[in-house]
Amino acid sequence: MSVLEKIGSESLIELENKYGAHNYHPLPVVLSKGEGVYVWDVEGKRYYDFLSAYSAVNQGHCHPKIVGAMIQQAQTLTLTSRAFYNDQLGPYEEYLTQYFGFDKVLPMNTGAEAVETAIKITRKWAYEVKGIAEQQAEIIVCDGNFHGRTTTIISFSNDENARKNFGPYTDGFIKIPYDSIEALELALQSSPNIAGFLVEPIQGEAGVYVPSEGYLSKAKALCEKYNVLFIADEVQTGIARTGKLLAVDHENVKPDVLILGKAVSGGVYPVSAVLANDAIMNVIKPGQHGSTFGGNPVAAAVAVAALEVVKDENLAENAERLGKIFRSKLADYITNSKIATLVRGKGLLNAVVINDTEDSDTAWNICMALRDNGLLAKPTHGNIIRFAPPLVMNEEQLLDCVSIIIKTLKQFE
Ligand SMILES: Cc1ncc(COP(=O)(O)O)c(C=O)c1O
Repeated sequence: MSVLEKIGSESLIELENKYGAHNYHPLPVVLSKGEGVYVWDVEGKRYYDFLSAYSAVNQGHCHPKIVGAMIQQAQTLTLTSRAFYNDQLGPYEEYLTQYFGFDKVLPMNTGAEAVETAIKITRKWAYEVKGIAEQQAEIIVCDGNFHGRTTTIISFSNDENARKNFGPYTDGFIKIPYDSIEALELALQSSPNIAGFLVEPIQGEAGVYVPSEGYLSKAKALCEKYNVLFIADEVQTGIARTGKLLAVDHENVKPDVLILGKAVSGGVYPVSAVLANDAIMNVIKPGQHGSTFGGNPVAAAVAVAALEVVKDENLAENAERLGKIFRSKLADYITNSKIATLVRGKGLLNAVVINDTEDSDTAWNICMALRDNGLLAKPTHGNIIRFAPPLVMNEEQLLDCVSIIIKTLKQFE
């Protein structure tokens, strides 16, 4: 037994505070075990996980099939770099591209890297296929976006906390209001140099903002009209989270560039991917982009297993069904609530809006009480609590969770 295993929560939190950079503000709970929809803290208390590592653990914690694939591959071959071929990557690329219906994939590791990759592909396509003059390409993005933490990505964020004192910022982005087709069309008309429109089909980090019905399909049609790439960031919304394999599937939209991360591996290993058809992806030639770990054999084996689980266990259908029950039960409660004003979401990506200001502690205090009552969730943007359990949850567990949430909200009425 290692020394760490004997240390209690308080000492472990102190260690992180003392030796780790303070770039997060975690809820004070120290987890040491996970299985399915549950996690356990170091003192042995069990919780329902209602964050799923920001929708990475859609397949549930430590899914035996995914962990098994990882162990087997880790004992065989872990990393070759892309200087050589490996026997896992090709079969994974074939499986993934057929799964989502694209010609090609460019494998990376984290969500932010995949977004960066999509931006680079889009710019290159703009210069080499669309014919935009050098250095002039622009990408339209939305207010309230969250696409990751790199210097380029935070350059077009609205979140001052994410941006301040990290400049100089990267040029070439036009920000428009989310969920406004009029704003998109105006931006597309404003310049002949628009290369792409980068959008989250539901804005997760911003507080689970679901756009109006028809927004995504109209946006895609406009992109086609103006010969601009429609780039869907499905890092958080993809892989069955919203009740369909992809959130764009709710509107039958096929993105030109699809960005995936998180649950591609079931949260077992960092795996991300950018998918596109040949006319776009073929702009990338040897030496122009890459990653030492991107497409490694462990990632490939893990991702195949994780994606098989999504289909074998009908996770999209389950998320769709349970999400409806969740929202209807909570909406019933909220009708007569003073502390909660709204529940919104799709599938099992939902949020409850708390009746207080963004800078209040109320949502945080509710999350602390939820923790005490055996359920882990986290506020996003101060007064919004996101509820996103693993998609392997069953109805009985969901109803148990709904009663925990309602019981906790009642403590604050
Ligand atoms: C929509 C979206 N894009 C990109 C990212 C960045 O992913 P990562 O944290 O793996 O870099 C996230 C992370 O939450 C996200 O929600």
